[in-house]
This record gives sequence, structure tokens and C-alpha cells, in this order.
Amino acid sequence: MAKIAPDPSPLLIFLLLLHHATAAMPPTSSPSAPTPSSTPTPKPPSRSSPISSSTLDPKQLRALQSLNIPTSKDPCSPSPPHSAAASCDSSAPFRHLLSLTLSNCSEDVALSLTALKSLSTLTSLSFVNCPVTPIRFPAELTSNLHSFTCINSLEKLTGVWLSRLQNVTDLTVSHVGVTASGPTIILGGMKFLHSVTLSHTNLSGYLPKHWHPNLTFVDLSANHLRGKIPISLTRLENLVHLNLSSNSLNETIPTTIGDLSSLQNLSLASNSLSGPIPESLAALPALTHLDLSSNQLNGTIPNFIRDMKKLKYLNLASNSFHGVLPFNATFIKRLEVFKVGANSNLCYNHTVLGSKVKLGIAACDKHGLPLSPPPAKNSAADDSSDGSDDDYDDDNVLEKKHHNGPSKVVLGVAIGLSAIVFLIVFLVLLSKCCK
Ligand SMILES: *[C@@H]1O[C@H](CO)[C@@H](O)[C@H](O)[C@H]1NC(C)=O
Ligand SMILES: *[C@@H]1O[C@H](CO)[C@@H](O)[C@H](O)[C@H]1NC(C)=O
Ligand SMILES: *[C@@H]1O[C@H](CO)[C@@H](O)[C@H](O)[C@H]1NC(C)=O
Ligand SMILES: *[C@@H]1O[C@H](CO)[C@@H](O)[C@H](O)[C@H]1NC(C)=O
Ligand SMILES: *[C@@H]1O[C@H](CO)[C@@H](O)[C@H](O)[C@H]1NC(C)=O
Ligand SMILES: *[C@@H]1O[C@H](CO)[C@@H](O)[C@H](O)[C@H]1NC(C)=O
Ligand SMILES: *[C@@H]1O[C@H](CO)[C@@H](O)[C@H](O)[C@H]1NC(C)=O
Ligand SMILES: *[C@@H]1O[C@H](CO)[C@@H](O)[C@H](O)[C@H]1NC(C)=O
Ligand SMILES: *[C@@H]1O[C@H](CO)[C@@H](O)[C@H](O)[C@H]1NC(C)=O
Repeated sequence: MAKIAPDPSPLLIFLLLLHHATAAMPPTSSPSAPTPSSTPTPKPPSRSSPISSSTLDPKQLRALQSLNIPTSKDPCSPSPPHSAAASCDSSAPFRHLLSLTLSNCSEDVALSLTALKSLSTLTSLSFVNCPVTPIRFPAELTSNLHSFTCINSLEKLTGVWLSRLQNVTDLTVSHVGVTASGPTIILGGMKFLHSVTLSHTNLSGYLPKHWHPNLTFVDLSANHLRGKIPISLTRLENLVHLNLSSNSLNETIPTTIGDLSSLQNLSLASNSLSGPIPESLAALPALTHLDLSSNQLNGTIPNFIRDMKKLKYLNLASNSFHGVLPFNATFIKRLEVFKVGANSNLCYNHTVLGSKVKLGIAACDKHGLPLSPPPAKNSAADDSSDGSDDDYDDDNVLEKKHHNGPSKVVLGVAIGLSAIVFLIVFLVLLSKCCK
């Protein structure tokens, strides 16, 4: 910046202007509250059924009211949004609740054993942003529940409490502290489990050795799980989604990972995994989302990745890969997200990718080694813009024009204005001294 404005007073004005300009910009990111967006949305209120004239069992209605949930006269019929969203069966003379979602609960909401006993016809129960104190569910309810969801609700849970829900096929627990020796105590007895999310729960311990063969969805991300990824996990041939990111898993990725023949999403990001990308991954043609970023993986990036026709998201950043990047521009443009930055020994072939790419890695010399210094920057403006170094770590996507837009405009205006001010000051001084 000193190069642009050598005179002290315009520099001061320039800095002031810059300060104002940056202060006027809206904050780029706000502390994000737990987002239930990635999890199943509550079921819509009941569809009308042939015998829709009947209403909810009065006993169940009283039970709902006793929980202090705002409830309409007939929770079974579609009604304006309430904090209780319900669906019911179509039995006569009275209908019974099948699913219930309690969201955004007030402090008055309190669970009681009597009320829950009356609500034991529920097969699906969800708590979303509902910080009530958990109580032990009556046996009739745990026996009937097929789906249980708890997002940022029920304060704290224990593994023992969750492990009682043995008939569930779908279990979603996120942004709730869960105290347990590990996932095994929770999942071990759930014989019918198809889909499990235990995410942002501070769960510690090791990954289970035994898994239910019918699992299709496993998200154990953002916990404190440690140890290695067990080979038994790679035998789940129905698994479409595996997210173990943000844990403390170590050792190598099992070479049998390619046995997960239905897999579409694989995230092992932000662990301490080492060793190479297993060759067997080539056998996963349905893979759309591959995130192995922020580990200590090494070796070269395998050629077979460019033949994965379904791939939309590829993040291999922040590892220890080396060698020449095996991708051309056609491949990279097809992806929605492509990140390979922060791999200091990885480089790209200038002849194949040209000089305009910004991947956060250096171009290769003729021996396939990174040319130093790393990423050649394009323009002087980039050089002087704040935090351009960070850009290479975080925004190392091919097309990143949009990211720099606002700050470049602000900088340009600031430089322009300061030049004008400088000119005026200069002219005033000139006119004074030449009088
Ligand atoms: C709960 O609150 C959030 C924001 O606080 C709002 O977006 C959401 O629609 C609310 N949900 C219900 C079911 O009222
Ligand atoms: C699971 O459901 C069956 C009936 O479908 C019931 O007999 C059994 O007791 C239930 N298990 C638990 C742990 O509630
Ligand atoms: C997990 O632990 C951290 C640190 O102890 C704490 O700040 C955070 O609130 C905990 N998260 C949950 C969901 O309990
Ligand atoms: C898995 O699902 C199949 C069919 O959906 C079923 O026949 C089988 O019993 C299930 N296996 C287990 C262990 O639940
Ligand atoms: C995996 O989990 C992390 C943390 O919960 C989340 O940010 C990420 O989007 C998930 N990845 C996929 C593919 O769903
Ligand atoms: C894969 O992950 C993405 C991003 O989290 C998500 O939108 C998509 O539904 C996931 N697909 C499957 C099959 O779980
Ligand atoms: C990868 O790292 C492991 C140790 O984590 C080391 O034994 C191996 O030689 C490394 N391989 C390559 C190709 O650098
Ligand atoms: C780019 O690589 C793909 C394989 O990933 C290949 O099919 C294609 O022909 C290449 N395109 C160019 C322009 O070299
Ligand atoms: C870069 O690509 C060109 C053309 O495909 C090839 O001749 C050259 O050997 C490659 N260089 C490296 C270092 O791989």
C-alpha cells in the first residue's frame, strides 16, 4: 500500500477511507446456530383419509394439552402451523397419533410419564429446538417408535437412554451432548436400524465392530471418536452415505472401502488418517461426493478419480499428496466443488491446465515437482489485497472471481478517491507556494 501512496497525508486519508469502506461492509459470516436443515424435515400434517370425519382420541388430545404444547382442537386435521405437527391414523370413532414433532418449545413444555403413556401409539417422535428435560419413555412408546429425532433438544442424553429405543429404524440425534462409552452401547441393540445420525454430540469412544447389514445412512460426524475405521464397516453393501468427518480417527483408510458398492457420499474429512487413497475406491461408480480433506493422506492422487462420472464434489485439500495433479480443465469444470490446496508437494501440469487456474498449488517443473514459489499470482491488485494468502488456503476453487468482487471494488474506489484527494492537496500546496 505504501507503494501506491508514498506521501504520508494521502496515505492517512486512504487508510481512513479503506477503514470506512470495510466497516460499512456487511459481516460475511455470522455465528451459525445449529441447523436442522440437513436432517429429515418433520412430516406434514395428516392427509385426509376416507373416514376423516372422526377426530383425535380425547385421551390423546388431553395428553397433548397437558404437555403445554399449543394444540388445535383437532391436531389430526391440517391446521395453521403449530409448534406441534402431527399425523394420525384413520381409525374410528377416534383417530390416534402416529407421528408428532415438537419444535421451538417454550419453557412451559414438560414431558410426563402419564402423558407419554397416552401417546404410545406414536411410531415417530421428533424434538427440534425443544430443550425439555428428558424422562424415561414408557415401554409401550419405546416399543412402537420406529423413528426418533432429537435436534438441539432434550438438553443432555445418555447412551443408556438412547439404547432403549431398540425398535427404531431411523435415529437422528444432533447438537445434543450424549454421554456414553461409545456408539456401540447406543446402536448395539437396534436390530432394525436403517439410518443413523449421531452428529455434534461430543460422543467419544471407538467405532462399533459390528454393524447392521441393512444400514443405508451413517453420519457420526463432529464427535470425539478415535481409533481406526473398522473393516466391518466396509461390508455394508446398502450404505449410500458415510460421514465420519471431524473426529479423531487415525491409521489408514481400509483398502476394502471399495466394497461399499452403493456408496454415493463419503466424507472422512478432518481426522488424522494417513497413507494413500485406496485403489479399491475405483470400484465406486455411484460416488458423487468425496471429501478426504484435512487429514495426513499421502501418495499420489490416483488417475481413476477422473473416470468417476457421477462425481460433483471433490475435496482433497490439506493433506500430504505429491506428484502431478491428474485432472484436465474439462474434468474440473464439471465439478461443483474442487479443492486440492494446501498439499505442498502437489503440482499441476501447466501445459494441461494453462496459467489461469487458481488451485492453491504450484505448477510443476519438467520433472513433476512443484515450481517454487508456490501459486504464481496473476495481478498486482491481488498481491496487495488483504489476506490473499488466506485465499489460497480457503478458496482454492477454480472459479473464484465472485469471491473477490466486493473487496476489489472497495479497494479500487478507495485508491481512486485517495488519488483525487492527493491531487487536490498537491494543487493547493502548489498554488500556495507559487504565490
Ligand atoms: C422454529 O424457529 C425457527 C427460527 O427461530 C423458524 O425458522 C422455524 O420455522 C420455526 N419452526 C416452527 C415449526 O415453528
Ligand atoms: C419391538 O417390537 C416388538 C413388536 O413389534 C415387541 O415385541 C418388542 O418388545 C419391542 N422391543 C422393545 C425393546 O421395545
Ligand atoms: C461439546 O463440548 C464442548 C466443549 O466442552 C462444548 O462447548 C459444547 O457445547 C458441547 N456440545 C454439545 C452439543 O453438548
Ligand atoms: C434386511 O432387509 C431385508 C429386506 O429389506 C430383510 O429381509 C432382512 O431381514 C433385513 N435384515 C436384517 C438383519 O434386519
Ligand atoms: C458431513 O458432516 C459434516 C459435519 O457434520 C457436514 O458439515 C458435512 O456437510 C457432511 N458431509 C456430507 C457429505 O453430508
Ligand atoms: C450427500 O450429501 C449431500 C450434501 O450433504 C446431500 O445433499 C445429499 O442428500 C447426500 N446424498 C445422500 C444419498 O445421502
Ligand atoms: C506415507 O506415510 C506413511 C506414514 O504415515 C509412510 O510410511 C509412507 O512411506 C508414506 N508414503 C509415501 C508415498 O510418501
Ligand atoms: C480430459 O480428461 C478426460 C478424462 O477425465 C478425457 O476424457 C478428456 O478427453 C480430456 N479432455 C481434454 C480436452 O483433454
Ligand atoms: C505435461 O503435459 C504434457 C502434455 O500432455 C506432457 O508432454 C508433459 O510430460 C507433462 N509434464 C509433466 C511434468 O507431467
